Amino acid sequence: MEELNQKEISPLTSVDEWEDDVLDRYPEPGPAKTKEEFRNYNDPKQVAVREFYRLNHKYQTYNNVLAKKANFLQFDKKEMPWWAAMEYLNTLVDDSDPDTSLDQLQHLLQTAEAIRADGHPDWFILTGFIHDLGKVLCLFGEPQWNVVGDTFPVGCKFSDKIVFPEFFADNPDTYDERYNTKLGVYSQHCGLDKVHMSWGHDEYLYHITKDYLPEPALYMIRYHSFYSQHREKAYDHLLNAHDHDMFKWVDKFNPYDLYSKSPKPPVVSELRPFYEDLIAKYLPATVKL
Ligand SMILES: [Fe+2]
Ligand SMILES: [Fe+2]
Repeated sequence: MEELNQKEISPLTSVDEWEDDVLDRYPEPGPAKTKEEFRNYNDPKQVAVREFYRLNHKYQTYNNVLAKKANFLQFDKKEMPWWAAMEYLNTLVDDSDPDTSLDQLQHLLQTAEAIRADGHPDWFILTGFIHDLGKVLCLFGEPQWNVVGDTFPVGCKFSDKIVFPEFFADNPDTYDERYNTKLGVYSQHCGLDKVHMSWGHDEYLYHITKDYLPEPALYMIRYHSFYSQHREKAYDHLLNAHDHDMFKWVDKFNPYDLYSKSPKPPVVSELRPFYEDLIAKYLPATVKL
């Protein structure tokens, strides 16, 4: 890959700008927005989001995913207690509007508290609390487009249901006969476990937690940004019956991630004991990143 400049590493002022954009795309059910409100390409945030997707779609190749897995799945970067890792994630500073934006820990606590308020099982609450921990990839110097953004399968044709599909014209896999057919390197209904997803915080945290959490929790973690499937059903040809069953949980999780943002920040010190107990129940004392 050619040398990246700072603007190509961080096209967004904050990684949250991607999630704000997802929220615009999939708003909470209610009065419909006009098209004008939905996308205003003169808005600097929209310009940044577009540039973010241009880079994401250009560089998320099959080889990129294999290389990132070979590096990050060694978990040789850092080791620390889980709570300390959550605080470490929170050092990911946010340059966007301080009046409207929540820090990482606040988003995670709001997601988890909304799940808790609805009476869901404790492992579901814990999943809400940790689901974005993989964004520490940004702190390891990864470009934003290798950390956040909608995820999608690589190694087969990119669906035109993925946001900004036109940017896949810059991805070399689009012209590679191994990867540009409907099934590519996969087979019909082979199951998502056999499918390489574009690299990011979802896949990374899945591998960190896979020995410790119930399977529905692992599906929520691994596929929570796979909007072209959970909203658009673009990859049914790769899913097997078990994936369909498990995606009910991904669908259940998604509204808590997208719609639990309230401007009232949770009081971290009051909530910490509850979450420390949940961590101790399910996860080892330290996390290897
Ligand atoms: Fe996320
Ligand atoms: Fe999230």
